[in-house]
Amino acid sequence: VKKTDVVRAILADRQHLLPCNTEAEAYASSNIALCKYWGKRNTELNLPMTSSFSISLGNFGSNIRLSVNENVADTACINDQLLDWQSSFGKRLREFLNLFRITPTLGFHADIHTNIPIGAGLASSACGFASLVQALDRLFGWELSLLELSILARLGSGSASRSLWQGFVEWHAGTQADGMDSYAEVCTDVWPDLCIGLLILSDTEKKISSRVAMQRTVATSPFYTAWPETVRHDLSAIKQAVREKDFLLLGKTAESNALSMHATMLSSWPPVLYALPGTVTAMQKIWELRQAGLMVFFTQDAGPNLKLLFLAKDKAHMKTHFPNMPIIQPFINE
Ligand code: DP6
Repeated sequence: VKKTDVVRAILADRQHLLPCNTEAEAYASSNIALCKYWGKRNTELNLPMTSSFSISLGNFGSNIRLSVNENVADTACINDQLLDWQSSFGKRLREFLNLFRITPTLGFHADIHTNIPIGAGLASSACGFASLVQALDRLFGWELSLLELSILARLGSGSASRSLWQGFVEWHAGTQADGMDSYAEVCTDVWPDLCIGLLILSDTEKKISSRVAMQRTVATSPFYTAWPETVRHDLSAIKQAVREKDFLLLGKTAESNALSMHATMLSSWPPVLYALPGTVTAMQKIWELRQAGLMVFFTQDAGPNLKLLFLAKDKAHMKTHFPNMPIIQPFINE
């Protein structure tokens, strides 16, 4: 099964529709997995080995204005900088746009603005592809469901399947070979007191993409066989924590899940280590603060920065320890 087959199946009779607008705009939030996606059962379709669970970051995300014109070359700008189609993101974006190019002479222009702090390790593809599929839907007038858009966003980047909603989102791994049952769904629970801090420790570009690193982990880590069972356990604990507003259970499960993912990738060959010395220092500081009674936990993605989880009652205290850290309350509109 190829990406084009999935697009054909989803768009069916709508595939040949000409754009009904010349321009469309869409916004999607970034998201952070509390129970991670790490490893694919199908790399062409970004079908994951396991389900995953995330929280969306409200006003932190990206906005896209997408336009089409016949007989012009594709162009894309990210925060007013022209995107190089030869860059790794450029290649992925172009490959994705090609799936929706109904005539060979149709040119896309994507103007992307993102307000995610540079180097937070969040600027990535999740909100980019999620906003893009929504903009395509508006441009062509397809009127797809969010479930169908989630499948299309997944073809761009796995984690993008979770970025179409606010709040808690679960991406179901699914079992079908064509991935038609591998999409995300929003969870109705809300948690207004939940805070997320973006602890930026380095803004240097990561040397190895999550895409390459997760493939290597699946292929070479002797511990990868334990990962699906870890996720099965953690996913159910996190869903329970969200239902019961059990912050201790949420924090420790999310932190332990991230550490298990990083331990698994560390055991790959060649090894994959995203932590820098500053990452380890920050982890130790968090463990010390917790020892002293402050309920703060961390999670880490494919980069050296940490995302801290704590409750609103500890916000002032957290600010004294991490003065410049951006704080997001995903359920509070600011
Ligand atoms: C560590 O979604 O960026 O952030 O599907 O290859 O595009 P691709 O990978 P991507 O991987 C995200 C990995 C992670 C965990 C997560 O978000 O669940």
